Amino acid sequence: MVEGTVAVTGAAGRIGTAVRGALRPEVSRLVLLDRTPLRPEADNEETLTVDLRDETAVESALTGVDRVLHLGGLPDEAPLADLLDANVLGTHHVLEAARRRRISRVVLASSNRLTGFHPAGQLTGPGEPPRPDSLYGVSKVAVEALGRLYADKFGLSVICLRIGSYEQAPREPRHLSTWLSPRDALGYFRAALSAPATTRFATVYAVSANTRRFWTLPGRQELDYTPVDDAEAYAEQIPGAQAPVDPSAPQGGAFATPEFTLRHLRP
Ligand SMILES: NC(=O)c1ccc[n+]([C@@H]2O[C@H](COP(=O)([O-])OP(=O)(O)OC[C@H]3O[C@@H](n4cnc5c(N)ncnc54)[C@H](O)[C@@H]3O)[C@@H](O)[C@H]2O)c1
Repeated sequence: MVEGTVAVTGAAGRIGTAVRGALRPEVSRLVLLDRTPLRPEADNEETLTVDLRDETAVESALTGVDRVLHLGGLPDEAPLADLLDANVLGTHHVLEAARRRRISRVVLASSNRLTGFHPAGQLTGPGEPPRPDSLYGVSKVAVEALGRLYADKFGLSVICLRIGSYEQAPREPRHLSTWLSPRDALGYFRAALSAPATTRFATVYAVSANTRRFWTLPGRQELDYTPVDDAEAYAEQIPGAQAPVDPSAPQGGAFATPEFTLRHLRP
C-alpha cells in the first residue's frame, strides 16, 4: 500500500498504463500526467495534459502531491536536443516542483542503458561508473545526477530505478539478461514509492531475478524488494538462447553499435 496522493508522469505510456491500473486501488488519489490526453477511469483519478518541458505547468500539476513516479520522457535513442528537453529539463522541472512543493519522494525512471558499455561478462552494480551506450543513456546519466543533486543539496528523497527491458515476456537472447517482468516492475515501483523517508538517495537496477542478469539486485538497505521472475523459464522459446555470449561484448548489444546512434547524427 502506498500512502497519500501519488502522481505518475508519462501515465499514457507502456509502463505508465500498467502502473496506473495497479496503483489505482492502492492509493487514495492518483494524479496522471502526460502530454497525451487521458480520461479519468475512477473517482480517485485526476488526469492532466502537461508537457514536461513547461515548468509552470509541471509545478501546478504536482501541487498537493505526496509522491511522484516520474516515467515521462523519450524512452529511446533520439537527437540529443530532444532528449535534453524531454528527459533532462523535464526531470529538472519535476525535481523543482518537488523542492518547492515539499514532495516527500521522487522516483526517477532511469535506464540500464546508462551502463550499456560495461562488458556482458561483468556483473555490474550501481557503484560502477556510467558507460552509456547511446545519447539516450547520456540523458539518463544527467537524470540521475539531477536526482543526486536535489537529494544532497536540498534534502529531497530520490530513488533512481535503472529499468531493464520491460516486456510481458522475454523475446530475444539479450532479454534473458535484461528482462523486467510487469510483476517485478510493479514490485520495484511500489517499494520505491513507499520506502522509508530515511532513504535520502538510492540507485538500483530494476531487473527480474534472471539467471543470466548483468546487474546486481538491490540490498535491503537500498530498496526492500526481491524480484520473483526469471527469464530463463522462457529460454527454450527464444531462438539463439543457447548461443555463447562474448563476455567482452557490451551489455547494450545492438544499442551499443554506432549505427544505432548515427541515424540521429549528421552524415
Ligand atoms: N520500457 C522499457 O523497457 C524501459 C527501460 C528502461 C527505462 N525506461 C524508462 O521508463 C520510462 C517509461 O518508459 P515507457 O516504455 O513506458 O515509454 P513510453 O514512451 O511508452 O511512455 C513515455 C510517456 O512519456 C510521455 N512523454 C514523452 N515526452 C513528454 C513530454 N515532453 N511531456 C509530457 N509527456 C511526455 C509520452 O507521451 C509517453 O506516454 C521512460 O522514462 C523510459 O526511459 C523504460
